[in-house]
Amino acid sequence: MTVVINMREGFDKKKIKIAAKFIREGKLVAFPTETVYGLGADALNEKAVKRIFEAKGRPADNPLIVHIADFNQLYELAKEVPREAEVLAEHFWPGPLTIVLPKRSNVPMVTTGGLDTVAIRMPAHEIALGLIRTSRRPIAAPSANISGKPSPTLAEHVVDDFYGRIECIIDGGEVKIGVESTVLDLTTKPPTLLRPGGLPLEEIEKVIGKVKVHPVVKGKAVDIAKAPGMKYKHYAPNAQVIVIEGSREKVKEKIKELLNDYKRRGVKVGVMATGDFYEADAYINLGNSEEEIARNLFRALRELDKSGVDIILAEGIEERGLGLAVMNRLRKAAGYKIVRT
Ligand code: TXA
Ligand code: MG
Repeated sequence: MTVVINMREGFDKKKIKIAAKFIREGKLVAFPTETVYGLGADALNEKAVKRIFEAKGRPADNPLIVHIADFNQLYELAKEVPREAEVLAEHFWPGPLTIVLPKRSNVPMVTTGGLDTVAIRMPAHEIALGLIRTSRRPIAAPSANISGKPSPTLAEHVVDDFYGRIECIIDGGEVKIGVESTVLDLTTKPPTLLRPGGLPLEEIEKVIGKVKVHPVVKGKAVDIAKAPGMKYKHYAPNAQVIVIEGSREKVKEKIKELLNDYKRRGVKVGVMATGDFYEADAYINLGNSEEEIARNLFRALRELDKSGVDIILAEGIEERGLGLAVMNRLRKAAGYKIVRT
């Protein structure tokens, strides 16, 4: 049975106690963060963490992010905390930044997918922080989607994937950012960007200087990746996604041309656009700004999939600010099927 707790009107101390009790008992609780919904369990309870992997169908070597609510917890989880980590935490926490550091022995190997490092973040969301504080546990939480599906930006998405299979879902309404946190490995010099996300790379570099960008961020996944999660197919809808990249005008022309071709062949096509309108079987306008596009991306993928189209044509955007995270998710969703104009 799944208890769905409605907190769309805001944080509620009494209601959070119900969810916190589940966490302390080793149960699974899905909760909103500012990036996407997470599927949480006590990060230090091996059995509870194992259930996260089972519920998601997630490979055991893909490590989880541990969520904290107070700066002290950083030192309880990480063996070494370099100055850079403290500076980043001061600047960006609570917020959409995850840092990877050597782990302490109290963090189970199940949580870190067998690695001797741990990924830590302090989410900027009242409900998430309240859940961590009330349960008095660090909470391991991957995105609350079945492995391979787009991350959830609404409680409805979590209900679709997990209703009846986890103990509790906290509905906090739509998330703010819509793409997952930025993952930065601080065990290398210079630090390595493992996953672009809600905190733009440019912002990080303003504070700590040059960061190395892992090749998987922009290109095809390799299987010797340092973040094991990077080698798996992600954000994959049932329809084939094709990303059209290039200058705005050329992208527009190419999409129209492809739409005509598919129409003639009787193929059903959806378009994910960033401002322009297209005559297609399904059409979603993600918005104009990087922020809007990021917020609407995963929801659009889920909705277009439900509409039953065979192909989804997606307009590429520039890789600056949140655009780097958006393009990383889009290319993955497309299984790297990209048309460059
Ligand atoms: O915004 C987010 O980060 C959301 C919310 C719920 O906080 N969580 C999330 O978790 O996106 P997940 O499990 O979907 O993605 C975690 C990413 C994966 O790419 C994983 O491989 C990487 O973080 N990661 C976790 N621990 C790591 C470690 N010790 N070393 C390298 N990469 C790690
Ligand atoms: Mg995920």
